[in-house]
Amino acid sequence: MAQERTLFIIKPDAVRRGLVGEILSRVERKGYSIEEMKMMNVNRELAGRLYFEHEGKPFYEKLISYITSGEVVAVLISGERCISGLRRIMGDTDPIEAAPGSIRGDFGFDGTMNLVHGSDSTESARREIQLFFEA
Ligand code: RTP
Ligand code: MG
Repeated sequence: MAQERTLFIIKPDAVRRGLVGEILSRVERKGYSIEEMKMMNVNRELAGRLYFEHEGKPFYEKLISYITSGEVVAVLISGERCISGLRRIMGDTDPIEAAPGSIRGDFGFDGTMNLVHGSDSTESARREIQLFFEA
């Protein structure tokens, strides 16, 4: 089947709340591999490149302020069909709608501070991995 790579980001609220270990453990238990990982700050330029598709939307400024508000953990993950699989582990974008058992469903309640990011397609994964690990 398809061995894939994807970009996973543990966002500032999750880092502040001490959820890094819990979240990474779920990813590892699923069977995905951590290929590379780093704690870092996302500046406004990188945030704009990550979220370019949302520029101009009503929530854009809030989104950029949030992702640049503190340290994140960027993780390069690999595994069988891990792009869609990781998104399932993350849960729906809005934590209120996200299923219990998912990261957002278990730990989130705010539409912006939704704990994690995962690439949403093969093309996004390639582009985002380059931004964070191959720039
Ligand atoms: P992400 O890119 O962070 O993994 O999240 P996603 O694919 O599940 O959601 P996406 O549509 O790409 O939205 C990016 C981030 O923008 C914030 N957002 N706020 N209506 C709203 O207030 C709204 N919609 C999206 C969230 O922080 C979301 O993760
Ligand atoms: Mg997205």
